[in-house]
Amino acid sequence: MKQIRFKKDFLFGVATSAAQIEGGAFADGRSASIWDAFAKKPGVIGDGTTPEVSCDFYHNYKEDIALAKRLGIESFRFSFSWSRIFPEGCGKVNEKGLDFYKRVVEELLKNDMVPNATLYHWDLPQVLEEKGGWLNRDIVKWYGEYASVLFREFGDRIPLWATINEPIATYVGYAQGIFAPGHSSELMGRQANHHVLLAHGEGVRRFREENMKDGKIGIVVDVWKHHPLRPENEADCALAELENEKTYRSYLHPVFKGGYTSALLNYMEANHCMPDMQEGDFELIRQPLDFFGLNCYNRVVDCADDTLLEADRKKKRTGGNFQDNGAEFYPRAVYDAIHMLKEDYELSIPIYVTENGTPSYNETPGADGCVHDSNRIQYIRGFLYWIAKALEEGNDIRGYYVWSLLDNWEWNSGFYSRYGLTHVDFETQERTVKDSGKLYSQVIKDKGFELPED
Ligand code: FCB
Repeated sequence: MKQIRFKKDFLFGVATSAAQIEGGAFADGRSASIWDAFAKKPGVIGDGTTPEVSCDFYHNYKEDIALAKRLGIESFRFSFSWSRIFPEGCGKVNEKGLDFYKRVVEELLKNDMVPNATLYHWDLPQVLEEKGGWLNRDIVKWYGEYASVLFREFGDRIPLWATINEPIATYVGYAQGIFAPGHSSELMGRQANHHVLLAHGEGVRRFREENMKDGKIGIVVDVWKHHPLRPENEADCALAELENEKTYRSYLHPVFKGGYTSALLNYMEANHCMPDMQEGDFELIRQPLDFFGLNCYNRVVDCADDTLLEADRKKKRTGGNFQDNGAEFYPRAVYDAIHMLKEDYELSIPIYVTENGTPSYNETPGADGCVHDSNRIQYIRGFLYWIAKALEEGNDIRGYYVWSLLDNWEWNSGFYSRYGLTHVDFETQERTVKDSGKLYSQVIKDKGFELPED
């Protein structure tokens, strides 16, 4: 047994997002987001569902926050729904929308949970998409206006703010068609990306302008590091390198180094997908941040030869390196990502691991009324082990958030992928804390755990 220990002030939390848990899609003046509109298109969501009701957190928030409290959760990460605050995208504020978040934040504070807010977690108002969405440079202004309202309203109560969650989702929605709004052009994807980065910068600028007392602002980027299957093979290495360029580096470089890498610029030039950029863009994008939000789920292994990749997967599966859900068990991914941030970006601001979790499929309470999700327990312990190791080496990691408190609406896979510490019956809205929820609760209580040597 290995003893894993965390300091008293290390924050243990859960992460959620508006579009995935709130439901109440048209309650109190909210208008549709791009995900409400996208989900209506035939065939785009795995199980054909929409986010219209989901966990109905809009009406159940008190009970769900009480549930989090019972588990001992210390910080609650959530996002604002832009179309609840500005049903017309910009201009007129919907007071009832603001009131909902005032009630949520009040409830969190009453229950001693640190609110951790994200301004944009993928759910652009559909009315703005109709004006070009992330392809229209005016979005920087629209987003700035939205951000300022929230800073003014909540600046005194929310200590942790993120401008954008996983900017890559916008690329996926404009270049690959599988996320909202469903466009499929590499040029659109790169342009949308550039505007998301500008919006991030504008958010930080406005945050500083609002004089936000003790509040801290950062960005949340997901790092799925690509590794070559055969490190000695040139083609595998080139593939993994290019993927790293096109994914997390395309955000980290602009934000921390003030420009795209030459490898990405070459790629965009060669593939005719260079976005329009203007003088001064990178000054806006690259501004000092107070913390970095790291979402980390796994790594990706690349191989130029598909048959070899499949053979390797089979070998790892039988060797115990894969979990029942088919995903590789590689908790060291989080340690690797922290090292990458230090080595490649000389990161010196605190890191929060803002999301980490694993899905199950067809998970329901058994005859004993429990959900025995041993997969998820192994996964969470594994990641915490590597975070503890990075802490021991002196890295400044301030907190860890499990994705997610509840099973919820998982974007294009609908209700099929269940990530919760708590099982949700979407017919009855009944919540059942899974074994992983009980484990996490104990970890928080003890500020650590004993890791079985397996
Ligand atoms: C992350 C997203 C989050 C959720 C988890 C499973 O990439 O930020 O909304 O979908 O994956």
